[in-house]
Amino acid sequence: MAVIKTLGQFIIEKQADFSYAKGELSRLLRDIGIAAKIVNREVNKAGLADILGDAGTTNIQGEGQKKLDVFANEQFIAALTSGGECCIVATEEEDHIVQITSPVSQDAKYIVCIDPLDGSSNIDVNVAVGTIFSIYRRKSTDGLATIEDVLQKGTDQVAAGYVIYGSSTMLVYTTGKGVNGFTLDPSIGEFCLSHPDLKMPEDGVIYSINEGNYVHFPDGVKKYLKYAQVEDKETNRPYTSRYIGSMVADIHRNLIKGGIYMYPTTSSSPNGKLRLLYECNPMAFIVEQAGGKATDGRNRILDLTPTELHQRTSIFIGSKKMVEKAEEFMETYSPVA
Ligand code: AHG
Ligand code: MN
Ligand code: MN
Ligand code: MN
Repeated sequence: MAVIKTLGQFIIEKQADFSYAKGELSRLLRDIGIAAKIVNREVNKAGLADILGDAGTTNIQGEGQKKLDVFANEQFIAALTSGGECCIVATEEEDHIVQITSPVSQDAKYIVCIDPLDGSSNIDVNVAVGTIFSIYRRKSTDGLATIEDVLQKGTDQVAAGYVIYGSSTMLVYTTGKGVNGFTLDPSIGEFCLSHPDLKMPEDGVIYSINEGNYVHFPDGVKKYLKYAQVEDKETNRPYTSRYIGSMVADIHRNLIKGGIYMYPTTSSSPNGKLRLLYECNPMAFIVEQAGGKATDGRNRILDLTPTELHQRTSIFIGSKKMVEKAEEFMETYSPVA
């Protein structure tokens, strides 16, 4: 009979991994896990709860917010506020940073950047959605933490993770010592260790991209897609195209099976669509920790210096050999910037 190890037990056990934390980061991760369970409860009964459809509001991204975007955003901010370990929440669904000044949080050390609900276009059609989070320690030492505490490079993350609300609900995270996956057991309401020490296959045969944007892709991307589609038994081509429209679900599948997820620049997203702080950096940290690679087509995602809260970047992320092959095509065919 396998011994159940809950997220809480695992976090405490791994506490020794990071010297400076005296339990704050552990409590922060548990606070996130609690909010994820609350969001999961609503996602699981979406058709019955009043969370389908549009909220009738637009976020700073210019996206029509779904009711579940707003619900998830509220739940994570509430959990992080009451948990007392977080001093700023930077979220996709708020124009500006949310400074947490509640009495319990006055000496809080951590910043959380979050995409509360990733894959919003899938909510109403019962396809997997997710949550993505990234955790930093504040750099400033006195007064209120500010936007400067948020605009840190991805290499400065102390932890990152995602929740995938799919056929099962999983929480996958890293603190820089490998990647571990936990599956929610609804019968006991606990995330239980199910995927210890996750490693991304070095190579793969799955590519994930919105080919509807083909005409606007850089030439190097077009050439890579043609390479992927050519018959060549030696290199297991043609590859398989799998694209769900939820970054979390596409990358989680590729993390397990091997594959590459690409969101290049397009005419409607000249700087790329995905946001650096709460989509690309956390997913890049996790994928690198699992042995994969994540670049903007040329530069390592984690080395990019953020200059604004909702800035976007192109991203090529996944199995090391697949990202390197795609980069080869981009070096050959894209004008040197
Ligand atoms: P979000 O729902 O948080 O706004 O993110 C959606 C992102 C990502 O999850 C997904 O892979 C991508 O947008 C899909 O974009 P397209 O619909 O343009 O392909
Ligand atoms: Mn969105
Ligand atoms: Mn997203
Ligand atoms: Mn989102």
